[in-house]
Amino acid sequence: AATAREALARLVRDVPDFPEPGVLFKDITPLLADHAGLRAVVDGLAAAGRDAEGRPVVDAVVGLEARGFVLAAPVALALGVGFVPVRKAGKLPGETHEVAYALEYGEAVLQVHRDAVAPGARVLVVDDVLATGGTLAAARALVEACGAHVHAASLLMEISALPGRAALGDLPLHVLTTV
Ligand code: PRP
Ligand code: MG
Repeated sequence: AATAREALARLVRDVPDFPEPGVLFKDITPLLADHAGLRAVVDGLAAAGRDAEGRPVVDAVVGLEARGFVLAAPVALALGVGFVPVRKAGKLPGETHEVAYALEYGEAVLQVHRDAVAPGARVLVVDDVLATGGTLAAARALVEACGAHVHAASLLMEISALPGRAALGDLPLHVLTTV
């Protein structure tokens, strides 16, 4: 069986100068298209939501639009819990909490439905890449605005040249590979 790390090394494609010059884009679409690779990374991401005996210890999985959605829903199924979307501004129809976060140029807003995560819930946050940490910090703030707790964040890749981890304080991070 493919290990998650091997699958990531083989199936994530580096695309220079996308979407703009100077950015090295990590294209996960070959990984998503490979059944064994997808299975390996979903199992690896879900491990952050289990105790040492393999029992699930979270009440919900939060996925971050857009690439996090694809990973978070199967992780939620693997853990036997539901999936909650954190979306970019203007997409959710109900009452929301919202948090602004910094992009390389300017800022953006993420939202979650106020009633999507129960107060006191333990949440696993799932996304693909940790770069500056802005996205994940905003997601944590949204979970906490619901009165819930981030048990851990689970990611495919951490970009070690960027200060994402430092921006996240004491948030427990589970990364399948560092690039
Ligand atoms: C990318 C990536 C992470 C985020 C990481 O998402 O999927 O969510 O950036 O960057 P950060 O740590 O600097 O915040 P992006 O907002 O580009 O969009 P997408 O997931 O909708 O493709
Ligand atoms: Mg994203």
